[in-house]
Amino acid sequence: MRLKLVYTAFMIGSALTFLSSCSSGGDNPGYEYAPNMYVSFGYEPLSQEADKPNTINPNGMNMRLPAAHTIARGQMDFAKYEYSVSNASYEASASLKSPIAATPAVIAEGNTLYNINCTPCHGEKGLGDGTIVAAGKFPPPPSYDSDRIKTTPDGKMFYSIRYGKNLMGAYGTTLNPEQIWKVIHYIRTVSGPYKSTATASNATN
Ligand code: HEC
Repeated sequence: MRLKLVYTAFMIGSALTFLSSCSSGGDNPGYEYAPNMYVSFGYEPLSQEADKPNTINPNGMNMRLPAAHTIARGQMDFAKYEYSVSNASYEASASLKSPIAATPAVIAEGNTLYNINCTPCHGEKGLGDGTIVAAGKFPPPPSYDSDRIKTTPDGKMFYSIRYGKNLMGAYGTTLNPEQIWKVIHYIRTVSGPYKSTATASNATN
């Protein structure tokens, strides 16, 4: 008997909810139960608002600290590429060799990264005639097809891209070591040994 009453009450309740949710036209989404389940308070993982400390994580942080000894993707060889910034380190980096083979896919990826980060100065074909240089706002960097760059070892290029060189800024926080090597492989399609393996997109640029 009692169960029957509960059941009837539930059915009436459901019917009313159903009817009330349909009654105000098609645009009305109806009554929302437990809105916090749908529209939860959003913690932005990569930013921290001082007045909204996270009540769950330690120290009120939105993101937890990575576990000790965590290595970010592409940074596996990090220690090997860690140089102090000095002329002596630039010279010492000459012996660094790319751990990645220059396959067409790697060169194509290097080309994409190059187009995003380097063309404003170095130009689409690496000739040192990028848009800000053409606009007279920046002195021209050396052409990749010049003897100077052709004879610059890959390792020194790695150092210059990672730490910057004179007027050129450092890309160590934008590109990880793997990505830097990919860009160098692409540069070598303009300057040096892989010139013949230039990708289709490079050839049409
Ligand atoms: C703001 C302009 C600018 C941008 C952007 C820029 N470069 Fe440069 N780059 C220069 C200048 C200027 C030089 C010449 C530095 C010198 O030797 O004084 C240079 C030099 C170089 C060299 C020769 C380094 C050496 O050891 O002699 C390489 C390689 C290079 N850039 C690669 C890159 C790559 C790859 C990117 C993109 C990730 C990039 N550059 C982005 C301006 C720029």
